[in-house]
Amino acid sequence: SERPYVIDEMISAKSIAARVEDLSRKIKDEFPKGERIVLVGLLRGSFIFIADLVRELGDRDVEVDFLEASSYGNSTESSREVRILKDLRGEIEGRNVLVVEDIVDTGYTLSHVIHLLSARKPKKLKTIALLDKPTRREVDFKADWIGFEIPDEFVVGYGIDYAQCNRNLPFIGKVRFI
Ligand code: PRP
Ligand code: MN
Ligand code: MG
Repeated sequence: SERPYVIDEMISAKSIAARVEDLSRKIKDEFPKGERIVLVGLLRGSFIFIADLVRELGDRDVEVDFLEASSYGNSTESSREVRILKDLRGEIEGRNVLVVEDIVDTGYTLSHVIHLLSARKPKKLKTIALLDKPTRREVDFKADWIGFEIPDEFVVGYGIDYAQCNRNLPFIGKVRFI
């Protein structure tokens, strides 16, 4: 039972593309040339962001892996309970790892994942999130790089869903219930 809503554009596809380009430059500065970077996308929300990021890193040695952690289910509220639904395929011990996320809200998902992955002793472990809602934070967590800081609005698009819909929008929009 979904309430009817409309989506208002908040961040255009063009602004996202420009920001992804900026961020890829910062990533290149952080990880030494000639060393492989393992990009770990958190399913499902990060799939578009990681796809754009890896192409901006086209001149680097990049490996792509995925991990699925879910906290929201089909609701607009976090359950505060992070479940690992799918683990990495590859080993990360001694490797350069960049965890790629779409949004940091309460912080439970990323802090849990970082805790889990750091126990595997990567050489370097960094995090990037396209969006950050700092006013919603419930656990102390800060990503190394953020695309955009946003207010506490319910957002969709560019990988982010509402009840599994709207991930395919090329921009970030806010849901307005009508
Ligand atoms: C959403 C979002 C982040 C997480 C952020 O994922 O994609 O992964 O919640 O919330 P938090 O900071 O409060 O933990 P969701 O659990 O909805 O799964 P999905 O990526 O498959 O949509
Ligand atoms: Mn997610
Ligand atoms: Mg979701």
